[in-house]
Amino acid sequence: MILITGASGNVGREVLKQIVPTGASIRAAFQSMRKAASAPPGVEVAVVDYEQPETLRAALKGVEKVLLVGPPTARLAALERSAMDTIWQSEVRQVVKLSAMGGRAATFPRQHAESEDYIRSSGVAYTFLRPNGFMQNILLYSGDTVRTQNAFYGSEGERPRQSDRRPRYRRSGSQDPDRGRP
Ligand SMILES: NC(=O)c1ccc[n+]([C@@H]2O[C@H](COP(=O)([O-])OP(=O)(O)OC[C@H]3O[C@@H](n4cnc5c(N)ncnc54)[C@H](OP(=O)(O)O)[C@@H]3O)[C@@H](O)[C@H]2O)c1
Repeated sequence: MILITGASGNVGREVLKQIVPTGASIRAAFQSMRKAASAPPGVEVAVVDYEQPETLRAALKGVEKVLLVGPPTARLAALERSAMDTIWQSEVRQVVKLSAMGGRAATFPRQHAESEDYIRSSGVAYTFLRPNGFMQNILLYSGDTVRTQNAFYGSEGERPRQSDRRPRYRRSGSQDPDRGRP
């Protein structure tokens, strides 16, 4: 059986939608029974709060693989560490951790990297998925300003803007980046 954590979230919800038709044996973990009501019909559900390890322990009964989805908050690494301590004591043979692309400098990738280090040291077989930011985030973070100002805002620090780089692309003979990759 596969335990899918974070089943109410952006990623978990989509995983659930796609795995149910495959007929795989799954259990979906939600933080509350109220949220669990959103599970597709017939899916076995469990209530799991990483802050309460006993809830995860109960949800892991009969589970061989876990999709570990931690919340994108400052507690991510601590919560996943706690989850791994519980998983380590169970029959689970493989953890698939939803991580993030990027180095240790930025907040979320840094926390994910810490969590990956902990999972590596646990001795449980693991797989790390490291996606980039999803397009859905644009709607989440900028939907309001797009609707009201026809604009969205981003903070890019000191990196050069696309227009600053264009002359170099042209000189090297590459295709104009505005027209897509060669
Ligand atoms: N979205 C992106 O662009 C993106 C890109 C790369 C990596 N990631 C990483 O992917 C992971 C999930 O992202 P997401 O966008 O799916 O996040 P999300 O929509 O906020 O989903 C987080 C899930 O974790 C659950 N959760 C929160 N606190 C919990 C706790 N204490 N115990 C158990 N479950 C808890 C949430 O339940 P509730 O619904 O009840 O709050 C929700 O199901 C994050 O670690 C994020 O850093 C995201």
